Amino acid sequence: MKETTKYLLDESRIPRFWYNIQADFKTPAPPVLHPGTGEPIGPQDLAPLFPMELIKQEVSQERWIEIPEEVRDVLRLWRPSPLYRARRLEKALGTPARIYYKYEGVSPAGSHKPNTAVAQVYYNKQEGVARIATETGAGQWGSALAMACAFFGLQCKVYMVKVSYQQKPYRRIMMETWGAQVVPSPSPDTQSGKKVLEGDPDSPGSLGIAISEAVEDAATRDDTKYSLGSVLNHVLMHQTVIGLEAKKQLEKADDEADVVIACAGGGSNFAGLSFPFAADKLTGKRKKLRIIAVEPSACPSLTKGRYVYDFGDTVGLTPLVKMHTLGHGFVPAPLHAGGLRYHGMAPLVCKLYDEGVIEAVAVPQLATFQAALQFARTEGIIPAPESAHAIKVAIDEAQRAKEEGKKRVIVFNLSGHGNFDLGAYEAYLGGKLEDYEYPAEKIAEALRGLPQVKST
Ligand SMILES: Cc1ncc(COP(=O)(O)O)c(C=O)c1O
Repeated sequence: MKETTKYLLDESRIPRFWYNIQADFKTPAPPVLHPGTGEPIGPQDLAPLFPMELIKQEVSQERWIEIPEEVRDVLRLWRPSPLYRARRLEKALGTPARIYYKYEGVSPAGSHKPNTAVAQVYYNKQEGVARIATETGAGQWGSALAMACAFFGLQCKVYMVKVSYQQKPYRRIMMETWGAQVVPSPSPDTQSGKKVLEGDPDSPGSLGIAISEAVEDAATRDDTKYSLGSVLNHVLMHQTVIGLEAKKQLEKADDEADVVIACAGGGSNFAGLSFPFAADKLTGKRKKLRIIAVEPSACPSLTKGRYVYDFGDTVGLTPLVKMHTLGHGFVPAPLHAGGLRYHGMAPLVCKLYDEGVIEAVAVPQLATFQAALQFARTEGIIPAPESAHAIKVAIDEAQRAKEEGKKRVIVFNLSGHGNFDLGAYEAYLGGKLEDYEYPAEKIAEALRGLPQVKST
């Protein structure tokens, strides 16, 4: 019998509940603070930005939260996503390791982002919201939200980080095809954008700046709410369908993960794959399991950032959250992995990192693209530059297994395809891509601008 390459689940096995990792924390997550008073915020403080159902999910301590049937109906378009055994890559590496990847690029928008976009738009629709404003880095999140808004009949405005807007015209066209309005950020449409442009008319933009614009847009219009594609607790929870499915698929393969790997920009695909596995660590079932978050060395928030309270955006409009941060004023180099250019990291991921439940590594851009090519030339799929960070570390782990002669089981998240990132591949193939030095001075400067908070 031929050996299985794709582990597939029937549609009926799309998870019925999201997993909320907060239920398994021994100590509660640090509270979110009001930027003015420094006191913990309440649901009403967030109400101008988010529908109440999502605010409730943000603070819920329930272990399992039911996925509405209307949301599962949409997820059915591409879920359950396949879990692949990377047999051809294993062979090329000559490793005794067994490598699996969960492929989220099968969604119509090409990444894991629709898993939460659909849920978020659904709850907004339930509350009668007519329009949603958001930011996008690589364009994957904007595409996901534009598509979800099209499904539920909401208007969508996307502030797209300028460097990505220029590098990826096709991502913009996708969003427009699904009916969204897209502007390059910083834009003159908001006070936040204008302020940045006054300081630097050529600003490449950053996720932090684009978040400021989208938050301001939502806060100043009655018909509009804000939607974030990562970082927040509810977003991470919506992504846990990835890990819940992957665990069932590994059972089908009669295997158990030793190492779980995902890239981390704001932390959502990492959390999506790894939190259901982290549950086994937190509850003492699988103490030896390793979970690794991978970030770019040019924007190393987990490995080099400080674990303190900071703003989620650049201008300072959002509440303060405790996270590993490079400082909200930090503008990363124009890396091709646009979705990993964020100054902070999801607070839930940071808490696990701080407690030693997960590990983190930072990898440079060129080695990441080299891994992406090796993957594309063996497994076929051209990975998103963000996802390639996970591939790089999966390959490193497989090579280590070879040196140690260990049959390690490696599972990583292939969070998206790179079919709209060919400009980056062209630059790499043409020898035009460079590694960025660790931006020590810029980070030190940004860290000097951290807000003063009593409780840190
Ligand atoms: C394909 C892909 N992977 C990963 C990321 C990083 O985001 P997160 O850390 O929230 O998964 C992005 C962000 O845009 C993305 O497009």
